[in-house]
Amino acid sequence: MKWKDVDYKPYTSTERFSSEEEAVRQEDFIQKAQILVREYAEKKGHVPSACVVTFGCQMNARDSEKLCGILSRTGFMLTEDEEADLVVYNTCSVRDNANQRVYGRLGHLHAMKDKDPSKKIALCGCMVQEAAVIDKIKRSYSFVDLIFGTHNIYKFPELLVMMLSSDKMVVDVWDKTDAIVEDLPIERKFSFKSGVNIMFGCDKFCTYCIVPYVRGRERSREPKEIIREIEKLAADGVSEVMLLGQNVDSYGKGLPDKITFPGLLKEVEKINEIKRIRFMTSHPRDLSDELIELMAVSEKICRHLHLPVQSGSSRILKAMNRGYTREGYLDLVRRLKESVPDLALTTDIIVGFPGETFEDIDETISLVKEVEYDNAFTFIYSPRSGTPAAEMPRSMSDEEIKEGFDRLLRCVQETAKKRVARYDGGVYEALIEGVNDHDDSMVTGRLSNNLLVHFKADSSLTGKYVNVKLLENKGFYYIGEML
Ligand code: SAH
Ligand code: SF4
Ligand code: F3S
Repeated sequence: MKWKDVDYKPYTSTERFSSEEEAVRQEDFIQKAQILVREYAEKKGHVPSACVVTFGCQMNARDSEKLCGILSRTGFMLTEDEEADLVVYNTCSVRDNANQRVYGRLGHLHAMKDKDPSKKIALCGCMVQEAAVIDKIKRSYSFVDLIFGTHNIYKFPELLVMMLSSDKMVVDVWDKTDAIVEDLPIERKFSFKSGVNIMFGCDKFCTYCIVPYVRGRERSREPKEIIREIEKLAADGVSEVMLLGQNVDSYGKGLPDKITFPGLLKEVEKINEIKRIRFMTSHPRDLSDELIELMAVSEKICRHLHLPVQSGSSRILKAMNRGYTREGYLDLVRRLKESVPDLALTTDIIVGFPGETFEDIDETISLVKEVEYDNAFTFIYSPRSGTPAAEMPRSMSDEEIKEGFDRLLRCVQETAKKRVARYDGGVYEALIEGVNDHDDSMVTGRLSNNLLVHFKADSSLTGKYVNVKLLENKGFYYIGEML
């Protein structure tokens, strides 16, 4: 069903405007969308609602905040209920099960749309950057109204107007971009903390990973834009920022003025109201001595580093194109622990990579024991078409991979519980993030080292820093008491 005809001038991916021109154009489309939304509300007797569902990583979570910001500006009422008049799935394609989850949920949306044909469904994010996915949606999910990719998310106001005034599926997916459009409206999930993109894309081409293909080449934002954004967030009550990038340690490459990631961190540290700085993700190959030195003395950089290892076997690391060996990684960890003794380390590990054997998995298990991670995210290898590893022959059966995976998981859980026990009885500063999901007499706080602690306190303290004594070690989190 058409909402109404409007006058708009769509443009194709070959036509480009400057970042400033683009911001002005999209503002114009926000106003056009506002008219459509208002007319819809008058006709239907209710303000249309919109629900944005996020799959995947922090990058996607931040993109969803931008989508919500735009929807909110255009007059949609935001909800978490997929019965909404407009549902947007911001998808992830890092593993096949992420894709399958989206297809499954689209089936449910289809049933809802059968009951209410005016319901609109949009798909965006990493999954739709795959040509095969778009073909499949066109073929089997033709009820979807709008598909747009990761490179043109800033065109969302324009695409919204196109979708609301058309009966046909609107598809606008680009295979690459060099544009970074600043100043999109943003609706933040938390009032006191925020993610901040410092770079987009990835150039590392780990052989298993689809991210470089769906997010494009690495592009760093100008430091002055990042600082301007964080200053605005700080003025708005944010005290904790998470600097986001697929490989933050290579921040600054390609920018006209020379700046490194630690250089950027020093600029962020100067902003008074910012009390905590986090970042994600670090790559062991690019993490510099300058960063270790800065972390050792910094009052604001959190005592947590997510340092994905992927495997403890040098042979597999080579096949993954990770650019470091087991020994190199362990040496880096040793230097980090020496310089920052209270640092909590977490990691990502893949099991079942082509060519992997039980001996390789044993090496990974022995590395986990040696490093003593505070937590580790373990994944079963998922072949992604178009990546080099997808062409490599399998070496283990599904059952063998599962057996190796379970062994690793047990080791991760035992090591983490032991490791985390070093905080027993200690008193730490926690930032209260909100009411506990399972018990509303409790709140959940996050320590500088990223550990969660649940304790009795009033939810009005959300966003405040309090001292908490850690009483009961639950493995990956604590039950505590506010002092
Ligand atoms: N840029 C980050 C992580 C990106 S994806 C980094 O380099 O570490 C997050 C995690 O998903 C990766 O660390 C990896 O462990 C996992 N992952 C990526 N591709 C995968 C695949 N094809 N199969 C299984 N796990 C995968
Ligand atoms: Fe993927 Fe490797 Fe880039 Fe991380 S560094 S996003 S794992 S290609
Ligand atoms: Fe997934 Fe895309 Fe992030 S593939 S992990 S949402 S960059």
